[in-house]
Amino acid sequence: MILVTGASGYLGSNMVVKLESEGYNVIGLDIKPAEHLTCKFYPMNMLDLKDLETIFNDNKIDLVIHFAAYKSVKESVNNPGKYYNNNINILTNLLYCMQKYHCDKLVFSSSATVYGNQVCPMNELTPHGTSTNPYGTTKQICEQIIEDYCKHSTLRAISLRYFNPVGKSTYEENAPCPAENLVPNILHALKGNLTLQIFGTDYDTIDGTCERDFIHINDLMDGHLRAMEYIDTNPGYETFNLGTGNPCTVLSLIKVFERVFDKKIPYELHSRRPGDIQTSYCCNKKAKEKLLWSPTRTIEDMCTSYVV
Ligand code: WQD
Repeated sequence: MILVTGASGYLGSNMVVKLESEGYNVIGLDIKPAEHLTCKFYPMNMLDLKDLETIFNDNKIDLVIHFAAYKSVKESVNNPGKYYNNNINILTNLLYCMQKYHCDKLVFSSSATVYGNQVCPMNELTPHGTSTNPYGTTKQICEQIIEDYCKHSTLRAISLRYFNPVGKSTYEENAPCPAENLVPNILHALKGNLTLQIFGTDYDTIDGTCERDFIHINDLMDGHLRAMEYIDTNPGYETFNLGTGNPCTVLSLIKVFERVFDKKIPYELHSRRPGDIQTSYCCNKKAKEKLLWSPTRTIEDMCTSYVV
């Protein structure tokens, strides 16, 4: 049985569908409802340890994929208490239950933000950098807790460091308008719901806008399946970058969306967004070699996936 935490979210929902299509038995949990899911679902707040224990008491969980966390960079800067309290305590509650009920396989949803502002491409030997926001710091702390658990128990774990997940699989991200992230706002602009704001045009890149490593959610999910297989035969703790290794600027992405949708995207140029780093892209050699995983979808595929 696989437990997916954060099962109502963009990544969690799509991962549940993917796992079920691969024949896994899945249990989902989330603080938000999940009528769209067909798996056994527990609506709950993971901060409630007693509640969380019931899942492990009532089900034989073999492996956990832990997506649940608050993930807004901007909100974390304005409300660090909410992020430290939630993201760290729900992990420690989960690890407590896993140890108590002898579930010793964990795939953790981590993030490229653990690197902070580093020379790219970033590989897994690149140490945690100075995170530019509490959200990223909670991911660093969670990785450290998990690694330490693995040293002192039978837990075996993998932290998957996502770069910029985009694309529509079964579900697209249900983002507010305006959203915090770029692609949901591009989609809002394509629907005429807003004028896209481009934050920063004076970076040292080909067109002055930031560079990111956009990865198709289907490639990201394939990476989770490979990590689940890897963990079966590899005890201990490992981290893997899930990115394409190909930087793409904000303006370049906008141009691909315009071509694919055959529509101009209305945008305004704005000053830099506080906390942004200029360039973020990875070296994915370790995941290719050890997880036998390789991203196959292009930027064009990512944009096309949203065309109805
Ligand atoms: C990308 C670029 C913005 C919105 C975040 C998280 C990271 C990961 C991915 C979880 C930046 C610019 C954005 C807009 C814009 N999530 N932008 N107009 O900040 O790279 O990473 O999502 O793991 O943890 O930090 O993604 O999409 O917010 O921004 O110009 O309306 O797009 O300035 O340069 P980011 P993003």
